Amino acid sequence: MTLHPINEGKTQLLTRRKTSSKIAHLVAVALIITIVPIYYPYIHYLLDKATAIPSSTDDLNVETTTTLSRHHPLYRSHLFPTTQKEENDLKLVIVPPVKKEHRKRGRRKRERREVVLKPTGGGSGGNKSCDLFSGEWVENPEGPYYTNLTCWAIQEHQNCMKFGRPDQDFLKWRWKPNDCELPVLDPVHFLEMMRGKSLAFVGDSVARNHMQSLLCLLSRVTYPNDVSTSSDQNFRRWEYPDYNFNISIFWSPYLVNTDRTDRNDITKPFKLYLDEFDESWTTQIQDFNYVIISAGQWFFRPTMFYSNRLVIGCLYCPESTIRHRSSTFSYRRAWRTAFKAINSLTNFKGTVFLRSFVPSHFEGGRWDKGGDCVRTKPFKGNESVMEDYSLEMYKTQLQEYKIAEREGRRNGVKITIMDMTQVMHLRPDGHPSKYGHWPLQNVTMANDCVHWCLPGPIDAWNDFLMELIKREEIGR
Ligand SMILES: *[C@@H]1O[C@H](CO)[C@@H](O)[C@H](O)[C@H]1NC(C)=O
Ligand SMILES: *[C@@H]1O[C@H](CO)[C@@H](O)[C@H](O)[C@H]1NC(C)=O
Ligand SMILES: *[C@@H]1O[C@H](CO)[C@@H](O)[C@H](O)[C@H]1NC(C)=O
Ligand SMILES: *[C@@H]1O[C@H](CO)[C@@H](O)[C@H](O)[C@H]1NC(C)=O
Repeated sequence: MTLHPINEGKTQLLTRRKTSSKIAHLVAVALIITIVPIYYPYIHYLLDKATAIPSSTDDLNVETTTTLSRHHPLYRSHLFPTTQKEENDLKLVIVPPVKKEHRKRGRRKRERREVVLKPTGGGSGGNKSCDLFSGEWVENPEGPYYTNLTCWAIQEHQNCMKFGRPDQDFLKWRWKPNDCELPVLDPVHFLEMMRGKSLAFVGDSVARNHMQSLLCLLSRVTYPNDVSTSSDQNFRRWEYPDYNFNISIFWSPYLVNTDRTDRNDITKPFKLYLDEFDESWTTQIQDFNYVIISAGQWFFRPTMFYSNRLVIGCLYCPESTIRHRSSTFSYRRAWRTAFKAINSLTNFKGTVFLRSFVPSHFEGGRWDKGGDCVRTKPFKGNESVMEDYSLEMYKTQLQEYKIAEREGRRNGVKITIMDMTQVMHLRPDGHPSKYGHWPLQNVTMANDCVHWCLPGPIDAWNDFLMELIKREEIGR
């Protein structure tokens, strides 16, 4: 039972020994994590039919509590930490080299804008060159800006107050960048700014978590209509008719084309075609003004890696003949392919935001071994350092981003970063923990330290979004 942090070499040796307990464990783990996403749409469909969910919430992919255990796709972060062979020189630095260039370039451009835009001010202290992502969480007695009674868009397992979370101080913080202010999202201003525009989310259930936070923040003004063309709950489209503003979400936890290794055997890992576009989103984003793309914890699951339709490796597969690779191996290639798809759009006039890797916060054990997130306050910036494997994922992503961003500039495609990694690393207090279900409920993940309570710190992502879009609009 040695599936903790192990390097690739060791994995290979262990696997080659093929002890039966090892295989049994792998199968058990694979079973748990594979059932979940595969059966999700089906279960949801059944539940939609079987239970009287109010039509308004029905649209939003709100689950009944019985489905909770069935589709927490992201609960594995501490199960299989990876070590990165590709980069032995990894240093424990939180601020990556890419930022410097990013900032410098941004500053030059924004200095120009400032002259033109002083009259509007923009509420950000007039400092358009400010690095939004370096700062601290500071107290904000005004929060939260909605509750589970004012917003119906809260997905069941993120409705922490409903399941009895006793503390509320975690709702009373806002992000304060070191060199400027980050205004809290003003829903009227946001909707006005988005008039005639469209916004797409591409990613996994954390992307959905983010979208639902936005719907809740905007619900102080109005709700959208569901104008989805698909019955698939993973692909939704919302329209704010008064503003001619659309929000869409595209499910793509791996960002690339995927398949199952065995359609009839759900215990088998996913196949990732690391060099193939996931056309469910790549063919759809062309006309959007803003696309927020993200991916993360799914890359810690057992997976088979393909290139050119040939197996080039795997993660936690039982085969001894296949080269075992790290999560960063597939993460890097998936991002490279996703960015390639974005950069090959010929008529894309929008902006792509890379929402960066966000770590989970299990403490005192793994997700399935009693690990939990019971803190009730944010960390101060100097209080906690991110774990190595999170940093590796982040660094990998930034390297690919940097390459793609440069390439995009040549092609006239704008890619920029919404760097939530360190910001959210400081919020161990923002997860549902055991308040994502009823106490006696039999769920796979007893303590959810991956998703975020609504309301909760993920609401701040939309403060960033508003500011980033404002900067884009100003730049036009
Ligand atoms: C909202 O949260 C309260 C606790 O603050 C809880 O009693 C109530 O059941 C929740 N309502 C809904 C609709 O989730
Ligand atoms: C929003 O979606 C509707 C329905 O799909 C479409 O008719 C409309 O043109 C879209 N508006 C924008 C601004 O994309
Ligand atoms: C972190 O910084 C604060 C204020 O700058 C200081 O009071 C505290 O002692 C520091 N904590 C650690 C662990 O260094
Ligand atoms: C919880 O569910 C699992 C899988 O369905 C089952 O094996 C287990 O016995 C259940 N535990 C309890 C306490 O009901």
